Amino acid sequence: MKTVDAVLIGAGQRGANDYAPFALRHPDQLRFVAVAEPSPKRRARFALQHHIPLENQFVSWEALFACTQMAQAAIICTQDQMHVGPALAALRAGYDVLLEKPVATTREGCRQVVSAAAELGRQLHVCHVLRYTRHFQTMRQILQSGVLGQIINLDHRENVSWWHMSHSFVRGSWANIAESCPLILTKCCHDFDILLWMLERKCERLSSVGKLVHFRSENAPANAPERCLDGCPASETCPFYAPFIYVDLLPLWRNVAETSTGWAHLVMQAQLRAPGLVKALGTVAPVMRQINEYRGWPLSVVTLDPTPESVLEALKSGPYGRCVYHCGNDVVDHQVVLMQFEGDISVTLTMHGHSHVEGRSTRIEGSHGQLQAFFGLGGSWIEVHEHRSGRSTRHDTTSEVGAAHGGGDEGLIAAFVYSIREGRIQLASELAQQALESHLIAFAAEDARLGGQVVSTNKL
Ligand SMILES: NC(=O)c1ccc[n+]([C@@H]2O[C@H](COP(=O)([O-])OP(=O)(O)OC[C@H]3O[C@@H](n4cnc5c(N)ncnc54)[C@H](O)[C@@H]3O)[C@@H](O)[C@H]2O)c1
Repeated sequence: MKTVDAVLIGAGQRGANDYAPFALRHPDQLRFVAVAEPSPKRRARFALQHHIPLENQFVSWEALFACTQMAQAAIICTQDQMHVGPALAALRAGYDVLLEKPVATTREGCRQVVSAAAELGRQLHVCHVLRYTRHFQTMRQILQSGVLGQIINLDHRENVSWWHMSHSFVRGSWANIAESCPLILTKCCHDFDILLWMLERKCERLSSVGKLVHFRSENAPANAPERCLDGCPASETCPFYAPFIYVDLLPLWRNVAETSTGWAHLVMQAQLRAPGLVKALGTVAPVMRQINEYRGWPLSVVTLDPTPESVLEALKSGPYGRCVYHCGNDVVDHQVVLMQFEGDISVTLTMHGHSHVEGRSTRIEGSHGQLQAFFGLGGSWIEVHEHRSGRSTRHDTTSEVGAAHGGGDEGLIAAFVYSIREGRIQLASELAQQALESHLIAFAAEDARLGGQVVSTNKL
């Protein structure tokens, strides 16, 4: 089958680090032929990795899409507020598009992009990676099997860990609504998407509460400076002390240890209890070496080439070394959405940034059984309990070790490439409509939170 050629717009964390490696692993399926990226270092690194000639390296998407079409696909991974422009330009230039979520930060922008794809007859796929995980696919199959009987209630929680919250939504790119968008859209458009997809029913109405309660200046430890490394008196006690999160990496290892099983769990325990031993064994054991030389997320966001020295340097002057109580952030750190789905199913979505362990948890009550599930950094599982037989079944839905978003990133890009190769325009159009629906529900949830009212979502 023919290799799909693609251009990449935005060679940052998602584009260059999370999606593009698929092309290096599967050169028979996907090949990058051009890149648009303003950062010279990121552009050069990406061009080198993917053998992109100088004439196909651009500083911005405008210049790339002004050229004659260079490939069938455009993968757009710019920041939230910069999706509509390149997406419309790509669709109009004849590209099929894989677009990072959110589609846009306004309702109008979302509708504009989805309509443009339909009118131009182009494929538009939105990066709703959870759909491509073994975990949520298994959960959907269980629901479809009918083993739970009539679905009565669903309780879904997005438990963002305290250190992920501080990294992305306090110190990072998604801390301010004016620069990105409300957190319920950024973080939970995925969750609304899987709820709609799993239940195969529409959301009829919703209400919501939530606020930013903790990461505010009045909660700073006494005399805390603007930056952690400027002599913070709470350096020994504050969990958000930047070197603790980024140099020691303890929060990340603990999270993986607490949610993994088998040998991965043992290795993580060794890293937590005897890091010196893991360091020494790294010379002979590849898995230990991977831990010693870990340079992935969140370090890859802190600095382009993360070594312990460069990370420390970045903490002295960059955004990730700021005190979490002095960041000027304004997105919520918790929000709950209460929804009524067709069939009088009551659904709650709780999103908060204070979880000890990162992961999404789901509980579904049916007339004939109950489902409980956890989707974590180190491992995932689903349990089904049947009322009449008393039978309990446990499904291990853990993905390959180290697979980002529980294997969702790899699954998404593989599905996008497959859809392009097969010309699955109808499927793509349905997916784009479903993505739009999830986004419109997120906007409605934000309206409900701000206005304190119940919002009808029947005719969004
Ligand atoms: N699907 C998911 O699960 C998921 C997870 C995390 C982030 N995201 C989304 O992915 C998007 C990208 O996030 P990221 O973490 O990779 O951000 P990033 O900041 O690391 O990358 C964005 C890149 O776009 C580049 N850029 C800026 N202006 C440009 C222009 N005019 N032309 C071309 N490139 C330009 C930036 O220099 C940067 O390298 C965001 O919208 C984010 O919300 C999605």
